Amino acid sequence: MAVLPILTYPDPRLKQVSEPVERIDDELRAFIADLEETMRAGPAAVGIAAPQVGRFQRIVIVDVSGARRANPDHHGRMVLINPEITEWEGLEVGREGCLSVPDYTGKVVRARRITVRALDEHGRAREYRCTGYEARAVQHEVDHLDGILFLDRLVSRRADLFRRR
Ligand code: NI
Repeated sequence: MAVLPILTYPDPRLKQVSEPVERIDDELRAFIADLEETMRAGPAAVGIAAPQVGRFQRIVIVDVSGARRANPDHHGRMVLINPEITEWEGLEVGREGCLSVPDYTGKVVRARRITVRALDEHGRAREYRCTGYEARAVQHEVDHLDGILFLDRLVSRRADLFRRR
């Protein structure tokens, strides 16, 4: 396994739209293991998306189990291949960071509850209902697959963007 280099803002590749995964095989699983190791090496990271390491395929990993802000009903480690958010409910403002925007956090509006459908790394269909911080993390990571950063969702950079100390 390996920690992969992360693309950081304003790298234009972060705006690229990723392609669906067509084949789930050992090569892909090895990549997912590297992607997960890269996430776990990041400071307090709760998610990562494949395009952040320059692989433009629709793969994200989310794991909020180490976060104090996580609801107790979170799902732990989720590998989401070709994820589709199929339901949204409620809105909530919360603080987000990103491995690709290391020096800032921002206040972003997200749905409070979502349903997400995806394949896992063995090609099995999964459906998760996520709330709170986990729902936020999934929405943030799925945005990466469409070339969207949390910076793009700030209402006001002046009011909603914060430099990390
Ligand atoms: Ni991010």
